[in-house]
Parts: sequence; structure tokens; C-alpha cells
Amino acid sequence: MTAHAPETPALVIDERVALANIARFQAHCDAAGLALRPHIKTHKLPLFARAQIAAGACGITVQKIGEAEVMADAGIDDILLTYNILGVDKLARLAAVARRVERFAVVADSAATVDGLGAAFAREDRPLTVLVECDTGAGRCGVQTPEAAAGLAARIDTTDGLAFGGLMTYPAPGGQSAVETFMRDAKALIEQAGIACPTITSGGSPDMWKSGGGTVVTEYRAGTYIYNDRSLVAGGACALDDCALTVEATVVSTPTPARAILDAGSKALSSDLLGLTGHGTILGHPDAAVVALSEEHAIVHTAGENEFAIGQRVAIVPNHACVVTNLFDFAWLKGEDGVLRRTDIAARGKLT
Ligand SMILES: Cc1ncc(COP(=O)(O)O)c(C=O)c1O
Repeated sequence: MTAHAPETPALVIDERVALANIARFQAHCDAAGLALRPHIKTHKLPLFARAQIAAGACGITVQKIGEAEVMADAGIDDILLTYNILGVDKLARLAAVARRVERFAVVADSAATVDGLGAAFAREDRPLTVLVECDTGAGRCGVQTPEAAAGLAARIDTTDGLAFGGLMTYPAPGGQSAVETFMRDAKALIEQAGIACPTITSGGSPDMWKSGGGTVVTEYRAGTYIYNDRSLVAGGACALDDCALTVEATVVSTPTPARAILDAGSKALSSDLLGLTGHGTILGHPDAAVVALSEEHAIVHTAGENEFAIGQRVAIVPNHACVVTNLFDFAWLKGEDGVLRRTDIAARGKLT
């Protein structure tokens, strides 16, 4: 606990705002009849995973086995891992973590991934649930056609040790109608083959408020919604006041009246622009632009003169909350009482 301001750069999470964001989007999903499965990549904190489940989430999404291990240790009992897992060492870890979790599922988009999963789970007591990942326009992983999705579903269905769980996609922003068309067609083909397709999971915070209502999608995976960030403000998904995560920094130099230097560079803010101009919004200084970063410095150009003083603290809403979380060993949680409590970011840095 600390009553005084922590050393900068510091990652500060306003718990009141984060909990309000959880409640608001959970209410949206409840009203739309969608299950919500938050992606923990944004916060990487067991305490917020538990808060999301307590608010009504059906479980969580993770991207890495290491993240699943941290969340299993924390007692989370329903986990979807949205990544192709390959290689004997990773498959052994996957089997070990799946044994510890009541409901565990992964995705696959190739016969090679399915066959590896089958070999690793053939002798397990419980089959592993596998969803087919579909590329509905984002151009990342995923089978390319509904026919390919149905073919892979059939392969999962007939592989010992595996159970087909449904379809998964991470769409491009604005991609809901492409998701709808792809998923309806794929589901129909799978059901025609006599295979049930219980879950269709989509996601993404940029389009979260457009989700739901007469859709083939049964489950929504949002991650960034818990903290929000400058990219979601720019996209109209939230207001600046809804941003729970800030990086606190100190003005360390004012080389000219119109330039200030902060002690939060790319090691604290990341270099991720997400298509925006500038590296963050400085709260209370809407016209100051964070024009460039080096590792330990942020260069700020101000509209007027002498806007900042050496030693002054500022709070920055970063472009992309998820990557910033991964850069810090610990965060300061700001409670209702204004007191800061230090918490380790247990699932940060999990590369495997
Ligand atoms: C597979 C998958 N699902 C869900 C999400 C959550 O997306 P967002 O952070 O936009 O809510 C991500 C984010 O990268 C993702 O990769």
C-alpha cells in the first residue's frame, strides 16, 4: 500500500472504472443473450479474471499456455486458449493444465494441429474440446472457407482424445456481417454432417457495442473493454473517462518552452500506434502531443508555452492497453479510497 505517489513510470489502474467497465459490458451481453468470455491478455491479473466471472462471464480466454497455468493456479475453471499449439513440450504442458481445469478448450486451424492435439490427448481421461479457428477477414490464422471449417470439424470429431466444440474467429474491426455469413454457412455444413456445433465465439472490443441480437454467434470474447484505451476512444467505443489504465510519468526536462520530456518511453508506453498519430493522451492536456518515443523518453510538443514544469507528474492514456500491461512487473491498483495497492502482474511475459 502507498499513500504517496509511486516512482515513475508507474502503471496505475483505477479499480472503480475497471469494475464499471466489466459490469457495463456484462449487462450488454446478458441483454443480448451472448455468453461473455473475456480475454485476460489485457489485464493478466487473476483478481480481475475472478471479478469478470463473478460479474457473470462464462469463463476466460487466454493466448498462451503460461497464461492458462497462472489462471488455473488462481482457481479459474473454464478456459479457452485461442492459439494453435504445436510441439511435444507445449502439448505435454497443455495436457497437464487441461487436467487441472474443469472446462478447457483450444482452437486449431489445420490437420497438423488437430493431429498433434489428438496424439497428446489420446490417453487422457477426458477428451480435449477443440474449436475450429476461422479467418473471417482479419487475415491472421484460421481456415479460409466454411467448407474447410466443416472438413476440420469432421477430423476433430473422429480423432481419439478430442471433442469438437464449435467455431472461433477474431474478426477484423467492422467485420460482423462477414462473421455472420461465414459462421452460418460453416455451422450448416457441420450440422448436415451430423455433428453438433454448440459454440460460435467471436470477439473484439472495437465492435463490442454492435454485438448481439439475431446472430449465429453464441459467445463474445472482449479483452480491452476492461481498461479501454486511446484507440477505443478514437474509435468511439468509449470515452476518455472510461479508461481505467494510465501510465504515470514525470516531466524530467523542458528544453524549450514548447517541448517537455517525460520519463515514460517505449519501455513503458510501447511503440504501438494502432493507426493513431502520437503515443498517448496526457490527461488534462488535450492539446499536448506525445510526438515521439525513445526507450526512456517521451517527447511532448505543447500548443502553448511553458505548459509543463520540471518535476510535474502526468497521467497518460496509452494507445493500446494490452501491450502496456505486458511491459510492467506490477501495477498500482487505485481503490475507491484513493489508496494505491501494488499487485504483481502474474501472467505478464508469458511467451510460451
Ligand atoms: C483471439 C482473440 N480473442 C479476443 C481478443 C480480444 O480483443 P479486444 O482486446 O479487441 O477486446 C483478442 C485480442 O487480441 C484475440 O486475439
